[in-house]
Amino acid sequence: GLPAPDPARLLEWYDRHRRHLPWRAPPGERQDPYRVFLSEIMLQQTTVVTVRPYYEGFLARWPRVSDLAAAPLEEVLSAWAGLGYYARARNLHACARAVVERHDGHFPPDEASLLALPGIGPYTAAAIASIAFEQRAAPVDGNWERVIARLFAVEEPLPKAKAGLRARGLALLPSARFGDFAQAMMDLGATLCTPRKPACALCPWQAPCAARAAGEPERYPLKAAK
Ligand code: ADE
Repeated sequence: GLPAPDPARLLEWYDRHRRHLPWRAPPGERQDPYRVFLSEIMLQQTTVVTVRPYYEGFLARWPRVSDLAAAPLEEVLSAWAGLGYYARARNLHACARAVVERHDGHFPPDEASLLALPGIGPYTAAAIASIAFEQRAAPVDGNWERVIARLFAVEEPLPKAKAGLRARGLALLPSARFGDFAQAMMDLGATLCTPRKPACALCPWQAPCAARAAGEPERYPLKAAK
């Protein structure tokens, strides 16, 4: 049989190959939860390349969550112009106000309290909890799903497979460095374990990968016929 995937291998790879993105803190430092929040909302349905200048612009104009909360909604919406999906901008603003009103301007550190805020769903709650607060949480996005489906050659198709993929993701978590692990999964999926032509030869998890062993990594994740 194949060896179990070791989270430490992925973390070692991340230490060497992490992407340098403006919303990432220097190695070993925690990221400001407001910055994680801002970037994760922007990165939903929008690429890293497009988000970059908007993220920098928002942060320069509204450096703290209380600054964003104090801004008129119209200004936030016009600064958002070009990013699309305007509901995200409205939610961003509503959430900033809720953090100020309910939590005195400090994001709560646990997934459940984050989830109770307007505009914060399971993915964003887990991203903030893990990346900003080092809580044991799994922000499972499409990258996570593809990596896990391949590692275990999951035959169940998406979207039905989501719950199972998530459970396997939680089981993969290391005992520390939850924020780095979360972002390592994203980087692995975005740079090596890509939808087409994955770079298996460079992958820190090539030995334990069942899809690679079967010689058909691109077959995973399976998708239900539409
Ligand atoms: N996509 C969504 N969140 C991300 C993050 N924290 N790093 C890289 N890509 C992402």
